[in-house]
Amino acid sequence: MTYNDRFLRACRKEQVDRLPVWYMRQAGRYDPDYRKIKEKYSLLEICQQPELAAEVTMMPIKKLNVDAAILYSDIMNPVASIGVDFDIVAGIGPVIDQPLRTVADIDRLRPIDVEGDLGHVLETIRILDKELQVPLITFAGAPFTIASYLIEGRPSKNYLRTKALMYNEPAVWHKLMDKLGDMVITYTRAHIANGGKAFQIFDSWAGALSPADFKQYVLPTIERIFSELSDLPQPKIYFPGVSSAELLPHLSNVKADVIGLDWRISIAEGRKRLGDKFAVQGNLDPTLLTAPMKMIKHYAAEIIDQGIEQPGHIFNLGHGLFPEASLEKLAELTAFVHEYSEKAIAK
Ligand code: CP3
Repeated sequence: MTYNDRFLRACRKEQVDRLPVWYMRQAGRYDPDYRKIKEKYSLLEICQQPELAAEVTMMPIKKLNVDAAILYSDIMNPVASIGVDFDIVAGIGPVIDQPLRTVADIDRLRPIDVEGDLGHVLETIRILDKELQVPLITFAGAPFTIASYLIEGRPSKNYLRTKALMYNEPAVWHKLMDKLGDMVITYTRAHIANGGKAFQIFDSWAGALSPADFKQYVLPTIERIFSELSDLPQPKIYFPGVSSAELLPHLSNVKADVIGLDWRISIAEGRKRLGDKFAVQGNLDPTLLTAPMKMIKHYAAEIIDQGIEQPGHIFNLGHGLFPEASLEKLAELTAFVHEYSEKAIAK
């Protein structure tokens, strides 16, 4: 089998024969085989076993015929190494025993030790680098999104404590952003050194901020992360999360290759707001996977028609898959995107 580099080519805005496809959260509970593994092991226990984590990463490649793999891990995994204990609790998500509340809590955070504490993640990447015939995307959580869990202690609706720290103690906030920025940079470099072929920074909840607050409190660290990693030739993706359409015009100095879009904006309008500077990734509403196949294809075709107007579109969802999604529909969607885009590009 030859290596499928369609995803990497699209990231670089090169010509492709058909659009590459992958799905955020493509390794997950919609797959009965994954659910079986989850009966025996927790997410963190899977991550601790590189052979198993690699197997879980590869499951969607065959079943869905996607053009890229995403490392099976979680955005919270590196925070244990900087000194924050956490758990991923079924039905809730990340939970922190002792959320960060004071300057002393933030001062106590130590630099990440990837080789010492996260060797299992690097080993998983090395296994995948040998096994995969598609590019491996590794990822990290962006500082604001990680901070929201560290400060709130669990998933949040309004980010009250996070924003309170930002507004009341801006110096402390920026110190936290600096420390988490350093964590992301060191962690990502280690991924790439061990065989990662592209990386995505997930800022899933940045859309909770006004554009002005995003620019003041979050964007400088995002710009620093991508600038410091700009010597790496591997494609770099920034996903500003859900409800991020108003943030797009402010990303022009982010040295990323690709920006992820959610479904609240069209591909064409997203590109326009980004000044046609980046490749774009997205953006089918993941809840559409509950709809009849005919309707799913209708929405997908609209995305593809706009996507192929210029080079640089990677088909994806606008956010992660739900456990309720159907494997059969996902496989059919991948085949549809491949076939429909190939015909449209050939025209
Ligand atoms: O995409 C993939 O298939 C790779 C694996 C992956 C996971 N988490 C595994 C996971 C990735 C890329 C993530 C990223 C992640 N984790 C994000 C950013 C992406 C996004 O969805 O916005 C965020 C915000 C987290 C934090 C997190 N982890 C939450 C909020 C939850 C609970 C929500 C849920 O779906 O249950 C998790 C748990 C989690 N991480 C699961 C998986 C497969 C589900 C629980 C499990 O199977 O153990």
